Amino acid sequence: MPAIRELLPPLLADVRGAVVEIGAGTGLITELIARHVPGEVYAVEPSLGMRSVLVSRLTTDPEVLRRVTVLPCGALETEVDEPVEAVVMISVLQSFTAAERAALWRVLRGLLEPGGRLLFNWRDRAPAVPGDLQVMGSYQVGRHTYEVAGQVLAAEGESVTSRFRYRILQRGVVISQDDVDGTAHWPATDVLAAELKEAGFEPDPAPEGMQVWRMPK
Ligand SMILES: C[S@@+](CC[C@H](N)C(=O)[O-])C[C@H]1O[C@@H](n2cnc3c(N)ncnc32)[C@H](O)[C@@H]1O
Repeated sequence: MPAIRELLPPLLADVRGAVVEIGAGTGLITELIARHVPGEVYAVEPSLGMRSVLVSRLTTDPEVLRRVTVLPCGALETEVDEPVEAVVMISVLQSFTAAERAALWRVLRGLLEPGGRLLFNWRDRAPAVPGDLQVMGSYQVGRHTYEVAGQVLAAEGESVTSRFRYRILQRGVVISQDDVDGTAHWPATDVLAAELKEAGFEPDPAPEGMQVWRMPK
C-alpha cells in the first residue's frame, strides 16, 4: 500500500475530468485520488461493510465529501452519466474469474472517454503452494490483540483458494474468531495484456507494479 501511495499520484497528475475507482474498499485509495484530482470521483464498492467505513472516512473532509459519489454496486453494474477520464482499480482485479474479466474490460471500455486511461496494480506472482496457517500480522487495539493468519488451501491454474483467519485475543485467550475462505485469480501479466489488447486498450508506459492502458483517441 505505501508503494501505491507513491506510484498512483504521478499517473493521475494531468487528469482534470472525472475518475471511477473500482472496488474502493474502505476508501484509502479514494481519499488519495480525491486529493490529487480536482474533478468528480465515483467510488464503486459492493460491500456494505466496506462502504460504511468508506463514507465515514469521506465525512472527515467536507470538500472531498462533495466530490465523491459512492456507487453501491459491483464493477460490472457500474453506470455513470458521462464518460470518465480515468478508471483506477487497486488490489481488486484478482476477484474476477477469466470470464468475468472479459465482461469487466467491456464495461470499463464503455466508461472511459476516448484517450481515457485504466490504471491498476499488478505483479507476476510465484506459483501458490498449499500449506499451513501462518500469522501474517498482529495489531494491538487497546487491551486486545487483533491477529490475521492466512493459508493457501488449493491452487489450480491461475486460481488460488485461501483461508484468512481473523482473531481477537485478550490476555492470550481467543475471544473472537472468523474464517473467511475465498478464491482469487492471478493470471500472468502477458495473459492480461493479451486480454486488454483484444478488448481495444492500448498499453502506456507504467512504473514497476502498475499497469496503464488507454482507450484510442
Ligand atoms: C482488497 S480490497 C481493496 C480495496 C481498495 N481498493 C484498497 O486498495 O484499499 C478489494 C475490494 O474490492 C471489492 N470488490 C470485490 N469484488 C468486486 C466487484 N465485482 N466489483 C467491485 N468491487 C469489488 C471488495 O468488496 C473490496 O472492497
